[in-house]
Amino acid sequence: MYNDNPTLDNITQKLDPKLQGQVFDDEKSENPSQRKFYIESYGCAMNFSDSEIVASILAEEGYHSTREWQDADLILINTCSIRDKAEQTVRHRLANFNNIKKKKPGTLIGVLGCMAERLKAKLLDQEKLVDIVLGPDAYRDLPNLIRRAEDGDKGVNVLLSREETYSEISPLRLGTNGITAYISIMRGCDNMCSFCVVPFTRGRERSRDAYSIVAEAQDLSDRGYKEVTLLGQNVDSYKWTDPNTDEHVSFASLLVMVAKVNPLMRVRFSTSHPKDINDDVMYAIRDYHNICNYVHLPVQSGNSRVLKLMNRTYDREWYIKKVDRIYEIVPDCAITSDMIAGFCSETEEEHQDTLSMIEYAKYTMSYMFYYSERPGTLAARKYEDDVPYEVKKRRLAEIIRLQNQISYESNKRDIGKTFEILVEGDSKKSKEEHKGRNSQFKMVVFPKKAGIKPGDYVQVKIESVTSGTLRGTIV
Ligand code: SAH
Ligand code: SF4
Ligand code: F3S
Repeated sequence: MYNDNPTLDNITQKLDPKLQGQVFDDEKSENPSQRKFYIESYGCAMNFSDSEIVASILAEEGYHSTREWQDADLILINTCSIRDKAEQTVRHRLANFNNIKKKKPGTLIGVLGCMAERLKAKLLDQEKLVDIVLGPDAYRDLPNLIRRAEDGDKGVNVLLSREETYSEISPLRLGTNGITAYISIMRGCDNMCSFCVVPFTRGRERSRDAYSIVAEAQDLSDRGYKEVTLLGQNVDSYKWTDPNTDEHVSFASLLVMVAKVNPLMRVRFSTSHPKDINDDVMYAIRDYHNICNYVHLPVQSGNSRVLKLMNRTYDREWYIKKVDRIYEIVPDCAITSDMIAGFCSETEEEHQDTLSMIEYAKYTMSYMFYYSERPGTLAARKYEDDVPYEVKKRRLAEIIRLQNQISYESNKRDIGKTFEILVEGDSKKSKEEHKGRNSQFKMVVFPKKAGIKPGDYVQVKIESVTSGTLRGTIV
């Protein structure tokens, strides 16, 4: 849909890793008789994290992962429904797999994740080559559905659960750099943002056992990982009660528990809902060096009337107060956002409010989209999707242009500053350079130095910047 404007498309692609398919492989199988699975993930970090749970379940069944889908006995695609474009990407990908069954008749194809949950058995009618349809709360049933599919019986399990958190399953880290990892701390979402399909595809919100989260962080630390990102659609509403002591664990206390695992292991988290993030979370960021100075705080729109239609439960003034409070408690905190252009009935003036919010909040980066109506959501049922496509696209382009400018200005203010960087690996462009991030999640590139390797912390002084990257030298 974007392809008539390649420049805009490039920017959006770059800023929206959520839409990029990612292939996982790690375990290299040496035994040719061993059954192999291939998994490809789309959508948000939760989906990538879920793929690691699925991989772990398959490893228990004796499967090994492969990078080549042509080699696999089982091809899985973990899907996203957030926007129409995300679903189209998956359908194109399924079309690519079309010939495999002629060449290798026994190959099984499974659709996992949010599209599976949204379309259920309909997916089997629409996509004839699919054998297995499995929703996000049903992954434990995968081995069972594989056995049934091997007998020629196509299977669907899209039951949503109020309890499932896969708490005790140790994820098989896939496509990993060995330094940064995701930890899923909750599932589902109880907010009903009117544009959003997630509550329908992921079910009710539930929090995972805090001790199993800490144990997973400890295990990652023992294996040399240096950064964990705690994941949930709305992490600030994490709540869990210890059944033995009746003690309540809030998100702020969970953050501190994870931070204490290893002071040299960074802790990040995503996503924060502006209505739920509180001072305690900000105090945890202020008080613990290894809790990063970074909050992803999606605003969606800068206009109060639109926010009300979106059912975000805060207005512009309330959001501004949140932003002020974050900068008050942690002055060098970076804030990033998500924004939707052209929601139902949005006027030009209301769009301007979103632009002015980018300037006010000084977002260092944002994920930016135009509104895509999702079947079954409150907005689809109640409001007309009446902003013309051309207008949505132009408003989105304005948002992207301004955000790039604000990101660039923010990065320019970093010239001359020295940051602690966690080295993640080679830069994209050169083997002579390392890349890593500062606490604020900004990508930093610098010439390699003898003895420095991925996983080390270095001090880098910033010398030049673009809107997306800082460059400097180790001091
Ligand atoms: N739980 C997170 C967001 C998860 S979805 C939160 O509340 O912020 C990621 C982003 O996709 C959202 O923040 C929103 O900006 C965007 N999005 C969700 N539904 C959309 C839709 N129907 N059309 C366009 N963008 C959408
Ligand atoms: Fe969707 Fe809103 Fe839940 Fe985020 S908080 S997942 S936007 S319903
Ligand atoms: Fe997409 Fe589902 Fe995540 S709809 S954004 S994969 S929760």
